Order: sequence, then C-alpha cells, then structure tokens
Amino acid sequence: MSRIKNLEDYAVDYRKSVMDPEAFWAAQAERFVWRKRWEEVLNYDFLDYQVEWFKGGQLNITENCLDRHLLHRSDKTAIHWVANDPRDEDRVYTYKQLHQAVCQFSNVLKNNGVQKGDRVCLYMPMVPELAIAVLACARIGAIHSVIFGGFSAQALADRIADAGAKVLLTANFGPRGNKVIPLKSIADEAVEKAGGVEKVIVYQRTTEEVNWVQGRDLWWHEELEKVEVACEAEIMDAEDPLFILYTSGSTGKPKGVMHTTGGYMVYTAYTFRNVFQYEENDVYWCTADIGWITGHSYIVYGPLLEGATSVMFEGIPTYPDAGRFWRIVDRLKVNIFYTAPTAIRALMAQGLEYVELYKLDSLKVLGTVGEPINREAWEWYHLHIGKGRCPIVDTWWQTETGGIMISPIAGVLPTKPTYATLPLPGIQPVLVDAEGNEIEGKGVEGNLCIKYPWPSMIRTTWGDHERCKNTYFSTFKGYYFTGDGCRRDEDGYYRILGRVDDVMNVSGHRLGTAEVENAINMYQGVVESAVVGYPHEIKGQGIYAYVVCDSSKLEVSTISDLKTEIMATVVEKIGKIARPDKVQIVRGLPKTRSGKIMRRILRKIAEGQMDNFGDISTLLDPSIVESIKEGAQKDE
Ligand code: WT7
Repeated sequence: MSRIKNLEDYAVDYRKSVMDPEAFWAAQAERFVWRKRWEEVLNYDFLDYQVEWFKGGQLNITENCLDRHLLHRSDKTAIHWVANDPRDEDRVYTYKQLHQAVCQFSNVLKNNGVQKGDRVCLYMPMVPELAIAVLACARIGAIHSVIFGGFSAQALADRIADAGAKVLLTANFGPRGNKVIPLKSIADEAVEKAGGVEKVIVYQRTTEEVNWVQGRDLWWHEELEKVEVACEAEIMDAEDPLFILYTSGSTGKPKGVMHTTGGYMVYTAYTFRNVFQYEENDVYWCTADIGWITGHSYIVYGPLLEGATSVMFEGIPTYPDAGRFWRIVDRLKVNIFYTAPTAIRALMAQGLEYVELYKLDSLKVLGTVGEPINREAWEWYHLHIGKGRCPIVDTWWQTETGGIMISPIAGVLPTKPTYATLPLPGIQPVLVDAEGNEIEGKGVEGNLCIKYPWPSMIRTTWGDHERCKNTYFSTFKGYYFTGDGCRRDEDGYYRILGRVDDVMNVSGHRLGTAEVENAINMYQGVVESAVVGYPHEIKGQGIYAYVVCDSSKLEVSTISDLKTEIMATVVEKIGKIARPDKVQIVRGLPKTRSGKIMRRILRKIAEGQMDNFGDISTLLDPSIVESIKEGAQKDE
C-alpha cells in the first residue's frame, strides 16, 4: 500500500474513508500478517459505548513489528539508542537482534509466571530494554502498563494496584541530565504500598548498589541466562487488550486507558507512514518518553510496524548543553524529527549559538505534539531547525485516540502556524455547541468531538467501563468528546485551543486540577485548595495553587515554609511534573452560595488580570476576591 503523495490522493482517500470506512480500513489491514482473517471490520455503538475492529481476526503485533521484517530487513537498524551521557557509546539493535532480544525476554516473563492477559507494570529509564520488554509483553499476550519514570512512589503504587499487576519491571537507577533517578528504591516503596507484586525484575543500568528483597527481586541479566532464545508468538484476537496507559482526567483518580491489538496496529502504522511521509531509508527520531502515548505509538509500534529505524534517546534536550538534540541529528543524520513545543521553547530561550554549530541538513520533516504550539516557537522551529525547507506537522491527538488524528501530511497538505490543519483519512471531527448541536460552516469555534469510530480509539478505562462512557460518550450524545476546544477557520483548518475541562497541560504533560488538589489536601493543616493552570512561557501552562490552611497551622509555620512543604507534598504524592509553580496561601476561596468554586476568577488572577471578573454578585463573600488579589500582587 502506498502513501498519500499529493493533495488529490488525500482528497480521494478522505472521501473513500468517509463513504466506506470499512473498505478503507480493511484495505489498510491487508498489509499485515494475520493468523486468521477478520470476519467483521467494524461493529460499534456510541450511545452505549462499545467498539470492535477486525472482529474474529487473529494476530500477534510483534510478528508484524519484528518477524515480518526478518526476510528483507534483518540487518537494518530497528532501534538506535543514544545514552544520556554523550561519552557513552550508542547501542544499536538490528531487526534480527531486536527479534531475538524480544523473544528471549518473553521467555523470562513466562519463566516468572506471566501469562496471557496478566498485567505487567514497567517503571524504567529510556533504555532499549524498555522497548524490548514492551514488545515481549505483547509477544506473550501480557498487557503492558508503562509508568513514566518521573512519577512518585505513591503514583506508581496507585497504578500498580489499579492494574492488579503481579510483575514489575524496573532498573536500579535512571540517568537523566545531571541527575540520577533512584528507580529501584521508588519501586520498592511503591510495591510495598500497592501489594500484589510477586516479582520485581531489575535492569542494571548503573553500577551503584540497591536494596534487595530476597525471593522477590531478580536481576534482568541473570534471568536472561536461564532461558532459551526462541519464543513463539501468542496468537491474539484483534480485540484482545494490548496495553493500559494511565492518564489524567478531570476527576482525582488517573484512568487506565486501554487499547487493543488489531485496530491499534493498523492505525499507528498508517499514520506513521503518511503523516511523516516515511520512506524506507529514513532515520526517524521521536524525542518522547515511552512512558507516554507518543512513545508507545511513535517510538515503538508505528515505526517498527513500518520497518523503520527508530532513534531512542535516554537524556534531556539541555544536557550537557542546549545543542544536544542538534548534535545527535547531525551525527545520526536524522531525517524525521518529532518533539514537543515545550522542548522547542526551552531551547529557543537558550539562544541560537547552540543551533548554529550544527548543519541540520539531513532533516526533511519536523513534527510537534502534546500541546498547542505558539506562533513564535513554530517560526523558530521552521526557520532555525528546518531552515525553511522542512514542513512542520503539528499533530493533534490524545492518549485515548491511540494515534495522530488531525495533522498536516508532511509536504502534502499546506501548513499554517499554530494549526493542526486537517483530519487524517478516517477521522470525522465535528464542533458542537454547549447543547451538543453540530456547528457547521467555517470561521467557528466549539467543543471538538469525533463522530465516527477509528481503529485505535480507546476501548475502555481499565476496570471501569462506566467511567469510560461517562467521560467520553455522555457529554455530547452520539459523539466521542475530546475535552478540547477548537476553532475551524475560513479555510476549514482546525486549530486546537486547549482543554475545556479541568485538565492542565504542563510541559506537554497532562494533569488534572483535582489530582493536584487532592495531593495538596493531604498536607496536614490544609483545609481546602483550588488549582488552576496559567500561561507559562516555557511550559505552556504553569500550575497555580490557592490554599486555605487552618489557623493553628498558620500560627506555627511561616508562609514560606508552608509553601515549600505543600510543594514537597505534591512531589511526594504525584511526582515532580506536578509541582505547583506558585502557591498562594489564602483565607478562603471564592465560592457561590451553592458552594461551587468560581475558577474563572482564580484563573484570571493567576494570569495577572486583576479586573473584569464579570458578575461576582453570586459569591457568598465577594470580599474574598479582593483579598486574594492583594495577596497575589504582594507575592509577585
Ligand atoms: C491533550 C492530550 C498525543 C500525545 C501527547 C499528549 C493536547 C496534544 C496537541 C496539538 C494542541 C495538543 C490536547 C489533548 N494536545 N497534541 N498538536 N496541539 N494541543 O497526549 O497526554 O493524552 O494529552 O494534549 O489538549 O487533548 P495526552
């Protein structure tokens, strides 16, 4: 199957995908190895949500990521790994070597009692073993749940317990920039808290010693020695779960987004090939962490399904200096580069001297993901990294969508700064008003919904299907609701305006305001709190917390100690990514007579807008607003 090569192809494919979605996706599915062909392409219900793609089909996704390439690409590089420390050597896995490593680790999992359908949690640094373990789970039919290494012990414990995992994969330490994350000791604490974990398999990333629990903890390298290399792939149904990935919503508890096998495979491969216009010998680099959906779909599955060379980077953009990305691009001759706006803004702030040292002439396509990209960052990326000759694909999608939904197709669809532009074939976006009526026409704004299923959409939230229905399919009847506000301009192009629910996007990381509030409220002496996002130059959004403490606490602590301790509590309960940028101790929150917090006012104050609060006459105590304002100005 070829790629979309021009506007006309796009128009034809888009039309086909809407007129006859089943024929369109069946043709895409034909490209893969199926042990048994599907009986039905699509079966769905958006009112009482359930969806099935390629029902009756049987396959194993790793046969498509690995075995399928052994004939023609066995010596081609599958994963090219670059270490955090620039003095450390790269590690390269060809398709043949990756296949072998995955099979061998599959046997390690089996040897430790992991069976089809079991959940395996992974709390790992960005090393090849993480990708290998993800694929090994898929090979034996275990459901992987990767937890980002920046989450705290408590957050990890919550996710382990929710998934009911009995095996945890981790590493002793994880180097990141000039810091080293003590993954194993965090994992120890989490396992203790969560219960249910029988085995912890530990990859030795550094030489430092760690605490060891006899009978539970096992060294990765020692386990490998005990098993054979060959491992047949487990035959899975198209709708068997592939993985769970936790993400934040508007309630306090993160939800386990569940994806299944067949549809996810077809969609991630299709979007990878088309959006980036991937060609056989391209070197492709996505800078995300595998702990997020971007890493799942566009470091591991999408690229490997297409037989690509996927670069995997352990470090951060600014270590040892702000030229690190560009040095790697030149050294590996990267052709396709995919990163987050927050990284672009951070590097932009460091100045051009770090860019000008490098040629960057291998680059053909640039991508961004995770949050709205502001015009300045877009222009800088386009001019200084792409030298004005590389199309930028601003890809809008979500953990729940599994793959890219609205995006330019590189070099095919025209780009427009700050616009994700047009839906990919198979995606039918609509804007709806507060009542759920579709808003037609151009030059309009509304709530972004999708009105027809696509193969990689969320199947359920782990252990709680009602929650899945309520979150995505109940606000606007008959539609999948994204939680984003969106504008469709005069050209029919889509521009994502940001979340319309209580979800923040901090450095491309998704966090619920309620989740951060829950963490703050656990600090002893806190009566209540309200958290809002506010515009932040580098992070996109920063976290602003308004906190009410009881008077006895205020008598014994200084305000500055209180703030520090509240921040530390959030780091302990969730992780560093959720640490509030600002904490303001207030005497009360602006509440209506019915007890609802008026977040609108708190958002304004956080933005530094001290007037035009609109109607505040419904507030129980309007003088609170004045006192919060004064406090905010004093804190500046
Ligand atoms: C939310 C999803 C998809 C992988 C990374 C984030 C925001 C994502 C864009 C974009 C504007 C974007 C949305 C979305 N978002 N991509 N190109 N332009 N906003 O996945 O953690 O599930 O977050 O990120 O608000 O709903 P996620």
